[in-house]
This record gives sequence, C-alpha cells and structure tokens, in this order.
Amino acid sequence: MGFSAQWLALREAADHRSRHIALQNNVSDYLNWVAEEQIRPIRITDLGSGTGSNLRALAPCLTAQQAWTLVDHDYNLLQAARTDLALWADEVLQADAIEPLIKQPGMLEPLLISKNHKRIAIHFCCADLVVDVQSILDIPSDLVTAAAFFDLVAADWLNAFCLLLQKPLYAVLSYDGSEQWSPPDSSDAAILSAFHAHQKTDKGFGCALGPDAAKRMIAILNERGFNTQNAPSPWILDDQDRGLIEALATGTASAVRETNKLDGSLLSKWEHSRREANRCFIGHIDVFAMDPATQLRFKSAL
Ligand SMILES: C[S@@+](CC[C@H](N)C(=O)[O-])C[C@H]1O[C@@H](n2cnc3c(N)ncnc32)[C@H](O)[C@@H]1O
Repeated sequence: MGFSAQWLALREAADHRSRHIALQNNVSDYLNWVAEEQIRPIRITDLGSGTGSNLRALAPCLTAQQAWTLVDHDYNLLQAARTDLALWADEVLQADAIEPLIKQPGMLEPLLISKNHKRIAIHFCCADLVVDVQSILDIPSDLVTAAAFFDLVAADWLNAFCLLLQKPLYAVLSYDGSEQWSPPDSSDAAILSAFHAHQKTDKGFGCALGPDAAKRMIAILNERGFNTQNAPSPWILDDQDRGLIEALATGTASAVRETNKLDGSLLSKWEHSRREANRCFIGHIDVFAMDPATQLRFKSAL
C-alpha cells in the first residue's frame, strides 16, 4: 500500500501539534544527556519516514548536532523528503564532510542542513522493513523513532522487532481506534467498526495490528524490561483543518467501501455529512520506551 506525499503534507500540521509534549521533552532530555556524555552528534533512525515530517517536528527540540537516517521503502517519498527538507532548512550546507553512518544499496545522496542554529546531517535509506529490519536496527543510533507507522505492522513482525530492539524507541501517533465526529451521525458506529476491520487488513507486513499495535508494543517491551511511558496524542480537528477533515471522511469511506461490509448509499451519505463535520477527534498514542542497559546508564547519570 502506498502513501501520497500530498496526504502526508495535509496531515503534517495536525500531526505536529498533536504530539504529547511532556513525553517529547523526556525524549529530548535523554538525547541531551547522550550528547553531553558522548561529545558527538546524536544519531536517530526514523522508520517509515515518508517525506520527513517526524524530523521536522522533533529536530528543532533537540541538541545542536544531529545525524538522522530516514528509512522508507518508497523511493519517491524519500526523494520528496530530500527536497522538502532542503526547502525547510535555513541553509543547505556542503555535504562532503558527512561521515556515512551506513553503506548499503538504496542510499540517496545525504543532505547537511542548518535549521534554528542546529546542524543536521540527514541520510536517506530506501529499504523494505518487512525484508530486513535487523540491518536497519544495526545502523548506529541513539534512538529509533517512527511516526504514524506501527499501526501498519503485523503481530509477528512487531514481536520480532521488539525482540531485536536494543535501544530506546520513540513511536508517535499510532492510531488507537477511538474517533468522535461532531455533530454525530447515526452511521458513525457502524462505519467505525467497518473501518477497524479495514485497519486490520494487510498493509505489507501481514494482517495489520491497526489500533492494537501500540498496546501490544508496550506489553512486549515491558516484558523485556524496557521502561515504557505512553501518552495520548489525538488529532482534534476543527474548521482550521477543513482539508484534512474532508480527506479523512473520503479516505475512511473508501477504506470501508473496500470491506464490502456496508451499503454503498449509506456510505456516500456518511461521507458527504462527515466532510462537513465541525469537529473530529481521532485517537493516537505516543510511546517512549528505554531499554534496560540505557536506563541504567541514564539513571545513574541523573
Ligand atoms: C502513514 S505514513 C507516515 C509517514 C511519516 N512517518 C509521517 O509521519 O508523515 C507510513 C510510512 O511508512 C512507510 N512504509 C510502509 N511500509 C513500509 C515498509 N515495509 N518498509 C519501509 N517503509 C514502509 C510508507 O511508505 C510511509 O511513508
């Protein structure tokens, strides 16, 4: 399944303001400590990076020297990320000086930018996380992060990923299944239930966990001794997000149409009324999980 750069751009403002700030501050405290302790740029791997929205949200809150690796299986999205990040930068710097973090096929030309007085090296890795997640986790990094990604994965993949993970993880904006549209429509509940069925269809990793992904991830990582914190990060959309509300209504209706669970005319009626909704709440969860070894070093330094 593919995601368009247009859809990712449309959701970016809502994604950025919805992230749970206290949790993000904890991530930033941890990375500040890494920067001070290691005296080198902090290193972050972003899974399913799309066009780089997660970097644009997080990098301005972090220390001055950063090295990111954006990983996606969609080459066109990574190219769009490179273009968008160069436009977002205050300045694009000479990239010759960047140390390669990894050498593997599917790397795009790296980018070195400055933004808000931060120097950010960005590597772009085109790789399918279904095929080989181990080599991506082997990329030197202090944090693995992902935004709006984990609800796409299947239970087996998530289990394997959590067992391989040996470093802190910051997973934001996983869909939690809760939705509320205002004013309410008599078909909301039926549509939501069919939409959840669609959420569980294969998104490339096998039957997706959809709204169950974040809870499952927390349970597995807790079991492994990670210290996990989680917090809600819902989209609360109103008139300022008209384009997103309309796209969401249409996207939900077409996903439900694919399930063949509901009558087509009911769906069209619902889509029409929801495109005009005044307000919409879509539940998400943010998770910050720290592995036992990092916890030990981080806590003893406090
Ligand atoms: C909902 S989008 C989120 C994109 C981005 N993180 C953001 O917040 O805008 C999910 C992303 O995961 C990527 N993705 C899906 N399956 C993947 C796979 N098997 N390997 C690598 N990336 C994948 C998609 O290409 C897409 O960019």
